[in-house]
Amino acid sequence: MSRPAALLRNAARQARIAPSPGGLQTPLPRAGSSMTKRPLSILRSASTPTRLTSPTAISSRSFTSSSVQRHGEVTRPAPGTGIKVTYRDSKGNDIKTVEGNEGDDLLILAHEYDIDLEGACDRSVACSTCHVIIDPKHYDMLPEPDDEENDMLDLAFGLEDTSRLGCQVKLTKELDGMVATLPAATRNMYVDGAKARTH
Ligand code: FES
Repeated sequence: MSRPAALLRNAARQARIAPSPGGLQTPLPRAGSSMTKRPLSILRSASTPTRLTSPTAISSRSFTSSSVQRHGEVTRPAPGTGIKVTYRDSKGNDIKTVEGNEGDDLLILAHEYDIDLEGACDRSVACSTCHVIIDPKHYDMLPEPDDEENDMLDLAFGLEDTSRLGCQVKLTKELDGMVATLPAATRNMYVDGAKARTH
């Protein structure tokens, strides 16, 4: 049987046994009665395509976004309001005192102020070219380095007791006044092998 014919037959069957609100079935009207015309209208409506999706059924999707932090960019604090860090060279001379915000790390801050701290692996903790030596007072305020950082520090040139990877030192308010000394040289084992690069 073709599909339209099957549809018509089903509709006719349902028209003849229409359920009443109480669950009882409505008897089939006699042929020739005025009710016999009703199945025809039902048949017509049965062949009319039904719109299944109303406009209100399409729910609008919402999404949220967060601000983008791009590498190599920091927002400079207004002068006198930031956390002060002094970068010093290996001979004990101050290179520059700069101000950063909470959460900035020593590497990004150095790049922002053109201080020669390399950062070859871009914070992947896969080099030691961002090695800095922190003054003892502020070193004790820092969270302990994790194993990955310790592994890289082991490869650093001129390692000292208060050595850290600059990219792993994040500023907090209590670090205000910190001094970060650049070692005399850095070593990028993955690029240079054991050859040190002087600052
Ligand atoms: S940039 Fe390589 S470990 Fe910090």
